[in-house]
Amino acid sequence: MLTYYLLPLSPALMRFYRTRILLDQPTLLRFLPEEGRLLDVGCGTGLLNYVIAKRRPRLQILGVDIDRRAIELASRYNRADNLDFAPLPLGEVTGCFDCISFVDVMHHTTEDEARGLLEQAAPLLAGDGQVIIKDVGRKGGWASYAHDRYITRSKVVRLAELEEMLRIVPDDYRVVRQLKKYRFPFPHYYVTLGQAPQPTSRRKKRAEVTTAPGDERDTHSSCSGELRK
Ligand SMILES: C[S@@+](CC[C@H](N)C(=O)[O-])C[C@H]1O[C@@H](n2cnc3c(N)ncnc32)[C@H](O)[C@@H]1O
Repeated sequence: MLTYYLLPLSPALMRFYRTRILLDQPTLLRFLPEEGRLLDVGCGTGLLNYVIAKRRPRLQILGVDIDRRAIELASRYNRADNLDFAPLPLGEVTGCFDCISFVDVMHHTTEDEARGLLEQAAPLLAGDGQVIIKDVGRKGGWASYAHDRYITRSKVVRLAELEEMLRIVPDDYRVVRQLKKYRFPFPHYYVTLGQAPQPTSRRKKRAEVTTAPGDERDTHSSCSGELRK
């Protein structure tokens, strides 16, 4: 990937390119919490994480990615006190997070993978935690498609409309907030998901299985409230 070669030359320039040209950083920041524990899934080389870590010093961030090389570069060039990286698939992450983000990750997955990622995120979410999906829409998304296909040379590029994304959201969630905002050259969209309330019977059943007596919780999250990495 081109980024891998350019990042060591100028991490600052690459951060600017990623967060200011390819992303609408101010809008994205408005969707992220001021503090707490953030799990960023598909963090890549950590360019965005570094900027968020500096802007949000009270956030403790863990970036994970299935691309081992990207995590090596992230750990080397995008280090910050409140930022850790791990080369892990989401299914192997343990812990409890106030926010779990997927920034421009879903369009590099199939629909089934995207749904699977959201299912895997649910038990890692604190009771009042939120999942943030930021992605690029298909209509008018040709520049993003071309960038991914011919510059970063990604194998899977599946741009979808916000409405199509919402159709694959599992029942574990309710949609809290959504926004479509075109900012040259991409049609960005943002979705915030919270945990869906569950019928008491289902909730009790899960509590019997997953929690110790006296530790039943009001949500289906299996989070203990502690960050375990
Ligand atoms: C376009 S990059 C976005 C990087 C970063 N989120 C950002 O906004 O700068 C997409 C990243 O998603 C990662 N990715 C794709 N499928 C994934 C999966 N199933 N689990 C974790 N990461 C994944 C890729 O390895 C790649 O690093």
